[in-house]
Amino acid sequence: MEFPKIEAEVLSLIETELPPRERLQSLCAFLHASLPGYDWFGFYIARRKERLLDLGPFAGEPTEHVLIPFGKGICGQAAEKGDSFLVDDVSSASNYLACSLKVKSEIVVPVFSPGGREVVGEIDIDSHRIAAFGAADRAFLERLALRVAADVEALRL
Ligand code: SME
Repeated sequence: MEFPKIEAEVLSLIETELPPRERLQSLCAFLHASLPGYDWFGFYIARRKERLLDLGPFAGEPTEHVLIPFGKGICGQAAEKGDSFLVDDVSSASNYLACSLKVKSEIVVPVFSPGGREVVGEIDIDSHRIAAFGAADRAFLERLALRVAADVEALRL
């Protein structure tokens, strides 16, 4: 499915009346199943005081990285810098937390508090393909981050 079609479906999922965790879970399942190369799709939720990322809803294989300190790994760096990270080849990334040997590339996009600048969580996607993610993915996911900000903030500790 291409992005314009996906975005229409994503918008209707976001408008579904569900508790925040279940709505995010349904987005994970949908995007994991619909976009080739999106082999693991998940949300991390920020723990404000401890500066930790806590694994939230996800679709794909279970990961051992259920708590990630800000600054650690690709996820922690994106949270600390408040910026998206694209890694074409995880084997050449120095600050990286491996989930599975199958993973070759990754994109992480921070989610900011609605109308704010504080990182409340992030969207993390792993691919079994090298360089699976480009500018179109980043733009799509940054738009998605704006749309899910209220739900991610609702789960924040
Ligand atoms: N690879 C991530 C860890 C989380 S998993 O991809 C689900 C990282 O380096 O932060």
